Amino acid sequence: MSYPETRLRRFRRTPTLRRMVRETRLAAEDLVLPLFVCPGSGVENPVASMPGVAQQSVDKLVETAKATFDEGIPAVILFGLPETKDAVGASSWAEDGIVQRALEALAREVPDLVRIVDVCFCEYTDHGHCGVLTEERKGTVDNDATVENLARQAVSLARAGADIVAPSDMMDGRVAVIREALDDADLGEVAILSYAAKFASAYYGPFRDAADSTPAFGDRRSYQMDPANGREAIREVELDVEEGADALMVKPALPYLDILSEIRQLFDHPLAAYHVSGEYAMLHAAAQRGWIDYDRVLLETLTSIRRAGADMILTYGARDAARLLDSHNKVV
Ligand code: PBG
Ligand code: ZN
Repeated sequence: MSYPETRLRRFRRTPTLRRMVRETRLAAEDLVLPLFVCPGSGVENPVASMPGVAQQSVDKLVETAKATFDEGIPAVILFGLPETKDAVGASSWAEDGIVQRALEALAREVPDLVRIVDVCFCEYTDHGHCGVLTEERKGTVDNDATVENLARQAVSLARAGADIVAPSDMMDGRVAVIREALDDADLGEVAILSYAAKFASAYYGPFRDAADSTPAFGDRRSYQMDPANGREAIREVELDVEEGADALMVKPALPYLDILSEIRQLFDHPLAAYHVSGEYAMLHAAAQRGWIDYDRVLLETLTSIRRAGADMILTYGARDAARLLDSHNKVV
């Protein structure tokens, strides 16, 4: 017998047959677009290492958000570039803070768009670390003092109109304290999307240019996770679930798909993956040299993140992907 009975190629023969047996679907509604808001009006500062990404003043950001929502993308996540920075990052909880103003404008102008905010301090502190430094050991972030401030920031952002707060600091115990603070402030309907397994990654480089958040000294390895640790990631997730996280995130995405897949099997919470700045920059860098096809590699990458188990993908390529998916559907 020279022919195998089972022929997997039968369902690969035409685009329509392939569509019928496709196991994983990627859609615009799976995506979240990160946006960077800065002071001023009419401002649009492109980020050199991230083609298509810019720091935008509130008016420009609202225009982008409107177009994004019209393309079928349900949510944005906001990062702020404040006017002033200090040792604790107090501008992050100011009533008229930069992200607070953006939230108010979005709630008014694009009310159905879901507003997610990153909750952290590295964009607001003059030293660029994700929290308050300890007195005794300079350069170490004080866990409990930072957690109190995170709750303050989260409440301020929720009051300004955030639907979802997403703490990205990696302090221990922050989800419980943020939950309690939101509930005490009568903001019980605001959800927490925890950056539960966030690694100390070199892939964040371009983001730190975009958000002006490079630490002035040292690095983030005493709070973000060691890239070698998979079991510890599960412990991080277990704790955040116990503390009341409504949804979970793994970050970065592609180098940590094993962890994403494991979390998917162990937990039923909505699960997000952050396809981070360096992952996005690499695609453009290679495409600019003509070495890869950006459109195809973007869709393949995002599909792989969905296949590994993500319900939502935060990606700078969200609008490109939405456009490509739209044209794909028309073709087939
Ligand atoms: C803030 C934060 C970072 C990112 C998201 N939130 C940077 C960092 O931890 O240094 C990275 C996102 C990206 O690289 O796209 N803590
Ligand atoms: Zn931070």
